[in-house]
Amino acid sequence: MNCDYVAFEGIDGSGKSSIIEQLSKILNENKIENKIVREPGGTKVGEGIRELLLSHDYKVDPLTEALLFCAQRSQLVNELIKPSIQNEIKILSDRSAYSSVAYQGVGRELGYEKIYQLNDIAIGGFWPEKVVLLDIDPLVSLDRQKVADRIGSDKIEFFQNIREGYLRLSEEFSESFLVLDAEKNLEENLMKICNWLGIDKA
Ligand code: TYD
Repeated sequence: MNCDYVAFEGIDGSGKSSIIEQLSKILNENKIENKIVREPGGTKVGEGIRELLLSHDYKVDPLTEALLFCAQRSQLVNELIKPSIQNEIKILSDRSAYSSVAYQGVGRELGYEKIYQLNDIAIGGFWPEKVVLLDIDPLVSLDRQKVADRIGSDKIEFFQNIREGYLRLSEEFSESFLVLDAEKNLEENLMKICNWLGIDKA
């Protein structure tokens, strides 16, 4: 595998989790040690913050939301991601700081550049080396969703803007992004990911 830290991004219901699980299995078969982490969460502090962020019980102001995402992310990078990589464990991350640029920066209109900078501070510049973006029309993805959390139950325009935010990121950072059509079948997308990451698919 040609990198240590790869993130999977996309709007709610884009199918990140299934792809990550399959990829992790392939890595295991190839005896490549790997860990799946999820954002928000991944650490004890982060899971506590996750509850504040996603429960329908709280009304969270947009800037507070952005700062809470940064807080759980700072903890995750320092407590889990960096030490794992130092121990030669590959990180497959279900979301990353790029989610915040798309969701809080563009979706919540806090500013693409501003939220990028805020996250850059939170993670000390430790961005994922590669990003798989599962691109999909929100009309399709939201239909796939089973139970929506607080953020995932927003209106369709919110997700259309987030999708645009992701596509802007993929253009700005084209050398580290792989954009896939999330409506294509999982096997096909998995094959593309393996080729891109330099993994043999048994
Ligand atoms: P997640 O658990 O990945 O949910 P899903 O599997 O539905 O994608 O993410 C939870 C929600 O948090 C999701 O609606 C996206 C949102 N989110 C942000 O708004 N900003 C962020 O920085 C992150 C990591 C997630």
